Amino acid sequence: MKKYNVAVVGVGVVGIEMLRVLKQRKFPAGEVRVFARSERDIEVDGEKYSVKAISGQSFKGIDFALFAGTEGEKGAAVTYAKDAVKSGAVVIDNGADFRMDPKVPLVVPEVNPKDAKKHNGIIANPNCSTIQMVVALAPIYKKAGIKRVIVTTLQASSGAGKGAVEQLKEEVSSIASSGFYNLHINASNKSMPQQLAYNVFPHIGSFAECDYTNEEWKLVKETHKIMHDDKIKISATTIRVPVRTGHSESIYIETEKPITPEAARKLLAKSPGIIVMDDIKNNLYPMPKDAEGRDETFVGRIRKDPFVKNGLWLWVVADNLRKGAATNAVQIAELLIH
Ligand SMILES: NC(=O)c1ccc[n+]([C@@H]2O[C@H](COP(=O)([O-])OP(=O)(O)OC[C@H]3O[C@@H](n4cnc5c(N)ncnc54)[C@H](OP(=O)(O)O)[C@@H]3O)[C@@H](O)[C@H]2O)c1
Repeated sequence: MKKYNVAVVGVGVVGIEMLRVLKQRKFPAGEVRVFARSERDIEVDGEKYSVKAISGQSFKGIDFALFAGTEGEKGAAVTYAKDAVKSGAVVIDNGADFRMDPKVPLVVPEVNPKDAKKHNGIIANPNCSTIQMVVALAPIYKKAGIKRVIVTTLQASSGAGKGAVEQLKEEVSSIASSGFYNLHINASNKSMPQQLAYNVFPHIGSFAECDYTNEEWKLVKETHKIMHDDKIKISATTIRVPVRTGHSESIYIETEKPITPEAARKLLAKSPGIIVMDDIKNNLYPMPKDAEGRDETFVGRIRKDPFVKNGLWLWVVADNLRKGAATNAVQIAELLIH
């Protein structure tokens, strides 16, 4: 079997998960090179990796460069993705830097796999909250059409990187050590705009057009690009919740044609990458603690709107570090080698 040399850029929460997912999915990797800003040795599930400091020359002989560095002007992808492409690698980037570039496909393998083949060296992984939403919506969209989406996300701390996980941990242990007396903590680690322990806040990313955050706009614009339909009216509220890993989404849709909750359940249950968990008699519905470590997108609480024709509610949960990032990226690489 042909082997492919892989570079993983970034060893934060997503980069570590990428190393894990490559192994677990038995990706036919030859050499695996790992880069970050500085050198160190790390261990993931008992496997040792020597992390090298990244440079423009890091990608010689690499087939796939999986980027999981920070975003923006000085981030890994903006600085090094073009060097990787020049060296002959296909870049799969987890950040937002290239997602809306018309020359860069934005791919969720269960939804628009054919787009992956139209790349010019760079393929973008969508935002974690977009990925799980489109996995759940695409089968319904194909069957019944969707004209309206109202989504509220409840996003875990790890969605904001390793610093945010540390912030939540520090806050939780300070509150516990105060005997739960002092619920207002001034953590030394300030990766998020507010305290998260014993709290939720409606602020992910930065405030942008029409008073929505850029995280909320990602759900709109990325969904339009992936579904090739910018007519779907989407409105989002993104909320940070004190969960370690696993994003939940309360999604309201209005379909073009009627679809009953029973038909939606059956359709989703046979769709790729989805597990329907919807048995309210037995209190069975998806929760982030159960989705952590899993690659599937879980859907439950499917029910109709009693007042609006063709209105349907879904509750959708997935592991933001796996399906929302690492697994989706590795699945894209798998699409290209098969
Ligand atoms: N967390 C999620 O759920 C999630 C989901 C989807 C997409 N994403 C995206 O995935 C990317 C990684 O997120 P994360 O949560 O894993 O972040 P993170 O935990 O903060 O880790 C970032 C990693 O990137 C490395 N890095 C930063 N700038 C770099 C540069 N210029 N060159 C090389 N390496 C660099 C850091 O290196 P050092 O260790 O040396 O500092 C660190 O290892 C981000 O673009 C994020 O938006 C995250």
